[in-house]
Amino acid sequence: MKTKTTYYLITAAVIFAGAIAYALFNNNPFAEKEVIVPLTESWEKAIPNQEVPAGLVDLKAENCGTCHQEHYEEWQYSTHSHAWTDKQFQAELSKDSSPFLCINCHIPLQNQQEFIVTGLVNGDIYRPVKEVNPKFDKKLQMEGINCSSCHVRDGHIIGAFETDLAPHPVKVDPLHLSSEKLCISCHNANAVVTPTLACTFETGDEWKASKYYEKQDCVSCHMPEVERSLVAGYPKRKSHRHWFAGSGIPKEKGAKTKVMNGLEFYPELPQKIVKFTDSLHYAISLKNEYAGHRMPSGDPERFVLINFKLRDSKNKLIAEDTGRIGEKWQWYPTAKKLSDNNLYPEETRKFKFAHLPKEKGKYKLEVEVTKHRMDDATAAYNKLDDSYPLFISIFKKDYEFEVK
Ligand code: HEC
Ligand code: HEC
Ligand code: HEC
Ligand code: HEC
Ligand code: HEC
Repeated sequence: MKTKTTYYLITAAVIFAGAIAYALFNNNPFAEKEVIVPLTESWEKAIPNQEVPAGLVDLKAENCGTCHQEHYEEWQYSTHSHAWTDKQFQAELSKDSSPFLCINCHIPLQNQQEFIVTGLVNGDIYRPVKEVNPKFDKKLQMEGINCSSCHVRDGHIIGAFETDLAPHPVKVDPLHLSSEKLCISCHNANAVVTPTLACTFETGDEWKASKYYEKQDCVSCHMPEVERSLVAGYPKRKSHRHWFAGSGIPKEKGAKTKVMNGLEFYPELPQKIVKFTDSLHYAISLKNEYAGHRMPSGDPERFVLINFKLRDSKNKLIAEDTGRIGEKWQWYPTAKKLSDNNLYPEETRKFKFAHLPKEKGKYKLEVEVTKHRMDDATAAYNKLDDSYPLFISIFKKDYEFEVK
């Protein structure tokens, strides 16, 4: 009997102590207080929900395309139209290490985002304060960076010239559509987000430091001018291609793409007859002749390889060598750039191959330059299969040698 009472008393005491501890813990003056920190950086915020401009059915590119057919077809070639569906992007987004802000340059309109983020708990990018977005449109999300991302603001279509032929309200604002304001808002970010996550692409700064600044810009190089009707049957005007061609590495095997090449190749004509006991020599110079920024630019995972393969008359590989242009990064334990030999605008670099043959006979040197999105290890880590092209070939030539 006595033991039973004691048992009840102990149980009651434990519950009571637990309740006090719980109460104390929750009002603990030493416990971390939750403070909602507002968003500051531009890429932490989406472009606020937009209304459909009068005269239009919705914000989708598909809809603009019913009238602006050529613009729509061109945009479909662009990586902008794949900024959400891109397999690598989706693979990275699904990782816990990817914060909410990844989506703001890839699906920039609030209408494309499921949640409205109003702040960060204690400024922690992994603790966004979210509410459901009543204007979320899944189909619009699939379009990535679409016409409305760049052209729709406050019920108007932002354009660059006066017209009274449009069925939708137009606001002329060339500054909004400029390289400095529009392109650089996404193509220049340098932030260490967390110790192992750095966002570094400085295409904008690279351009500003180049001889092209104030002569040619993102728009003049990446959106070449063309005379055409903006809608079939309308008068011809100065217009711009909407391919946004860049590296040109397609997003899907066989997918349509437009390529721009920054490099020009200057091979040195080799001596074809080589005396036995002499070395076989070859050299090629690569110049960043056409890009208004470094080459490669943007994503630090890009690189260029200069591959040399020497084969004998039986096609057996005798020697090989590889040159590389690109950055090297360490991601763990802290993100740190280890090296960077990207070519500056107008910079030239020479790559040499030499080999001392052990036998007389005929030889073939295969030279190939390839432009890469990422290396095989990164692709494997992101579980990307063969349907995701990792590189394209931009120079290929064979040279014959005879060793006598
Ligand atoms: C400040 C805007 C911005 C933010 C924020 C951003 N990106 Fe991007 N992202 C870009 C731009 C611009 C490119 C175009 C590629 C380039 O510059 O080389 C790109 C390209 C990519 C690509 C394609 C790379 C390729 O080789 O085709 C992936 C994948 C990607 N981003 C993932 C992410 C992830 C994951 C995050 C969040 C950690 C993120 N992005 C946040 C602007 C952004
Ligand atoms: C029903 C047909 C139609 C639809 C749909 C349409 N437009 Fe237009 N748009 C026009 C016409 C017509 C013009 C005027 C052409 C001219 O003046 O040569 C025009 C002009 C423009 C201009 C140039 C404005 C300027 O002053 O510089 C832009 C930009 C534009 N449209 C973007 C869009 C976008 C983005 C969408 C989709 C959200 C869209 N349009 C949907 C017919 C349409
Ligand atoms: C990444 C931003 C971006 C996207 C995406 C984009 N545009 Fe444009 N658009 C521009 C810029 C920049 C101009 C040129 C402004 C100037 O004249 O300086 C332009 C110009 C135009 C013009 C005026 C005529 C011309 O060709 O210069 C039309 C029409 C137009 N865009 C329609 C569209 C349509 C339709 C889509 C989607 C299929 C689209 N744009 C997607 C940035 C964009
Ligand atoms: C809302 C953010 C945003 C804006 C604004 C924007 N871009 Fe992009 N851009 C991106 C992202 C993200 C990608 C990469 C998408 C991918 O690879 O999946 C990209 C890709 C590109 C590429 C292709 C890169 C390659 O790998 O070949 C070019 C070129 C480009 N943008 C030029 C421009 C120009 C020119 C403008 C201004 C008219 C512009 N962008 C405006 C976000 C943006
Ligand atoms: C003088 C012309 C020129 C100017 C100015 C220019 N670009 Fe480029 N850009 C190129 C060429 C050419 C390439 C193709 C490089 C390659 O991959 O061979 C390129 C490639 C790119 C790429 C793909 C990255 C890569 O390494 O291939 C992006 C992203 C890009 N440009 C964005 C921009 C933005 C944003 C601006 C403005 C800040 C800009 N470019 C200004 C010519 C230019």
